[in-house]
Amino acid sequence: MKGIILAGGAGTRLYPASLPISKILLPIYDKPMIYYPLTTLMLAGIKDILIITNPSDLENFKKTLGTGEELGIKISYKVQEVPRGIADSFIIAEDFIGKDSVALILGDNIFHGFGFSSMLKNVCESIETKKAEAVVFGYQVKDPKRFGVVEFDKNNKVISLQEKPRYPKSNFAVTGLYFYNNDVVKYAKTLWPSWRGELEITDLNNIYLKKKTLDVEILGRGFAWLDTGTHESLLQASNFVQSMEINTDKKIACIEEVAYRMGFIDKKQLNKLAKKFAKNDYGKYIASL
Ligand code: G1P
Repeated sequence: MKGIILAGGAGTRLYPASLPISKILLPIYDKPMIYYPLTTLMLAGIKDILIITNPSDLENFKKTLGTGEELGIKISYKVQEVPRGIADSFIIAEDFIGKDSVALILGDNIFHGFGFSSMLKNVCESIETKKAEAVVFGYQVKDPKRFGVVEFDKNNKVISLQEKPRYPKSNFAVTGLYFYNNDVVKYAKTLWPSWRGELEITDLNNIYLKKKTLDVEILGRGFAWLDTGTHESLLQASNFVQSMEINTDKKIACIEEVAYRMGFIDKKQLNKLAKKFAKNDYGKYIASL
């Protein structure tokens, strides 16, 4: 399975904080935001990853993550010239996806919770063995109007998905992590831009829903899905990571640790990476592994 991180967008909602650099490279506590979605894909076992950025930030992303070789993965880059929406990613990434299945994560989505990596591995496996065609995740939120929203019937079966509805049919938002079979490229090409001029991911998911091949996995309470769309939520995400890391003495989304634990790199390479940050706590943490 291939992986895509959508790190484009103008980030105007966070101006002037995101004026000098992409929002996706701003720090969440002790590391750049992109470390979080990157480790989510790595925990799913995905090693071939495309980062889609806007033209002005391409070099900064390359400087931050390089080719991925040091982490035992392959990272490539493509530019989204105009922010044409999330589903546009599959058209931009057509050659990269080739004949494979694909996971897409939005660069500003942070997931953290017990059992998440085994859940991700199961989802990947069911797509790859064709048991499932599309899998998305639902999460209960306070303000569903800001998101794609899931409607359930009496038997908890999903009956509709709506993008930013004025009158949400439930409190369950669709998070920014999506798994699809290879048909996704073909389906993305049939979409028309919405009123906001974007190829909507919700329209794409509705194609699978109509074919009765969309699975919605619910992320329960105790699980953290953090959105970083406002200054408040950005700060809250940093505070959350800080408090978890201090209390547990473990880092969230340490790319070097995940590469090591997933078996993408060996102990020798991990030590080499630790030396890059030898003088600070991040490097000491890697060395301590
Ligand atoms: C996008 C999707 C929406 C989803 C959200 C998750 O919203 O369109 O369906 O719930 O990401 O972060 P946007 O970032 O375009 O407002």
